[in-house]
Amino acid sequence: MARGPDNTRRWATLVALAALGTAVTATTNPGVVARITQKGLDYACQQGVAMLQKELEKIEIPSFSGSFKIKHLGKGDYSFYSMVIHSIELSSSQIRLLPNEGLELSVTNANVKISGKWKARKNFIKTKGNFYLSVEGISISADLKLSCDPTSGHSTITCTSCSNQIDSIRIHISGSSLGWLIQLFHKKIESSLRDTMNSKICEVVTSSVSSKLEPYFQTLTMTAKIDNVAGIDYSLLSPPTVTAETLDVQLKGEIFSLAHRSPPPFAPPALAFPTDHDLMVYLGISDYFFNTAGLVYQQSGVLNLTLKDDMIPKESEFRLTTKFFGTLIPQVATMFPDMKVQLLLWVSSPPRLTISPAGLALIPVLETQAFAVLPNSSLAPLFLLDMSTNISVEVGTRSNRLVGELSLDKLLLELKHSDIGPFSVELLQTIMNYMVPTAVLPKINERLQKGIPLPLPGQMQLFNLELQSHQDFLLFGADVHYG
Ligand SMILES: *[C@@H]1O[C@H](CO)[C@@H](O)[C@H](O)[C@H]1NC(C)=O
Ligand SMILES: *[C@@H]1O[C@H](CO)[C@@H](O)[C@H](O)[C@H]1NC(C)=O
Ligand SMILES: *[C@@H]1O[C@H](CO)[C@@H](O)[C@H](O)[C@H]1NC(C)=O
Repeated sequence: MARGPDNTRRWATLVALAALGTAVTATTNPGVVARITQKGLDYACQQGVAMLQKELEKIEIPSFSGSFKIKHLGKGDYSFYSMVIHSIELSSSQIRLLPNEGLELSVTNANVKISGKWKARKNFIKTKGNFYLSVEGISISADLKLSCDPTSGHSTITCTSCSNQIDSIRIHISGSSLGWLIQLFHKKIESSLRDTMNSKICEVVTSSVSSKLEPYFQTLTMTAKIDNVAGIDYSLLSPPTVTAETLDVQLKGEIFSLAHRSPPPFAPPALAFPTDHDLMVYLGISDYFFNTAGLVYQQSGVLNLTLKDDMIPKESEFRLTTKFFGTLIPQVATMFPDMKVQLLLWVSSPPRLTISPAGLALIPVLETQAFAVLPNSSLAPLFLLDMSTNISVEVGTRSNRLVGELSLDKLLLELKHSDIGPFSVELLQTIMNYMVPTAVLPKINERLQKGIPLPLPGQMQLFNLELQSHQDFLLFGADVHYG
């Protein structure tokens, strides 16, 4: 595995989710809740420990030297130098949830192998050789605190305490008949190494958190642009809450207009988040999230569509011409012979999505104004229709984006106004049943397929996706793979 920012990223994958945002205390409900489970932390731990291992391998062990005095032999000097760590095994490690506090990284039973050189001198006799050390039963325990920087709006992660212990150090000395002599300093070597390792391990853990993990959080964006109309705000509403089984993060989860952001005229509902914790991550997305989207897109005018004849498939028998409309409503053809018809469609109020255990329902009211296009390009109004629709909504994810697709269940037409005298609105049913799914929904679906970015770090892949619909929110569960 290569050293460098990649490893940092891996370490950060899931913890990053927990640390988005600001320290503002929640005064409102979240639009989105992100949950990381113990299973998710286990995965993050694997990734993080691989990075930590690389950092620990870089520990430099200072040379040390001393003098000895032994009966019959007299005085002499020794030194140990060129010590390098050549393997580290962090086989057993875990990130645990500390309810109401944060996270704890614990490593147990790790071991480190070190090799080095020694030399000793007594009067004119010099001798030297190699030695091998095995530092065994290392345990590390570090507390990680997730909080937020209220000024920048970014998250912070700090290592608030760290301790480590070493069970034993075993030394094997080779290279000289005086090797036995060196064995006499076993205790000294051991205690010197113990001191070095003890102070360096926690130093590496603490600095890895502050120099590798923390900067990664600073690069995560709280807000993202969706398209040229809207952005999404995933800022944190309150510090993450840690329970025995999950780490939950409450995010604003609001879609806003890029042109002029203003608070929506409705508030997020309280979410009865279930206790699920079998998958690595869960995202609860409330109807607030979708309805702020509906509001922004309706107000921006992108839900105002003009349908013209050239937008209708060539092979279609349905045409936007006065001639074709005349076959249904004869006065259209007699009053406006041989002209094109234009339909202007809009939703009169922001479309609202309702979410319940039974599923999703979108019941927008579409209004349609039909015009005849006069020879001088002026539009002559024909009639105004209200179309009540039941639209079924499918949501899913693609490349860490939330995507949707609408399909039409039913259209109920009501004539609001006619400029061409009375006619039966039923005559228009077949034509609208054709136009809406053929020319209107594909336009909206095209936009919905572009999707909305989810609050997940890039390069994170979701699998084992689960989707449930609850009262007022959708719950996505997934396992993740980073890479
Ligand atoms: C959409 O069209 C309707 C009807 O013409 C109009 O009242 C509304 O202002 C339009 N919305 C935008 C944002 O242009
Ligand atoms: C277009 O023609 C119609 C009918 O002939 C007329 O009433 C209208 O004023 C004309 N509009 C323009 C912009 O010339
Ligand atoms: C939509 O569904 C609701 C509930 O199932 C029903 O009451 C309503 O009449 C339906 N509307 C249309 C236009 O089909």
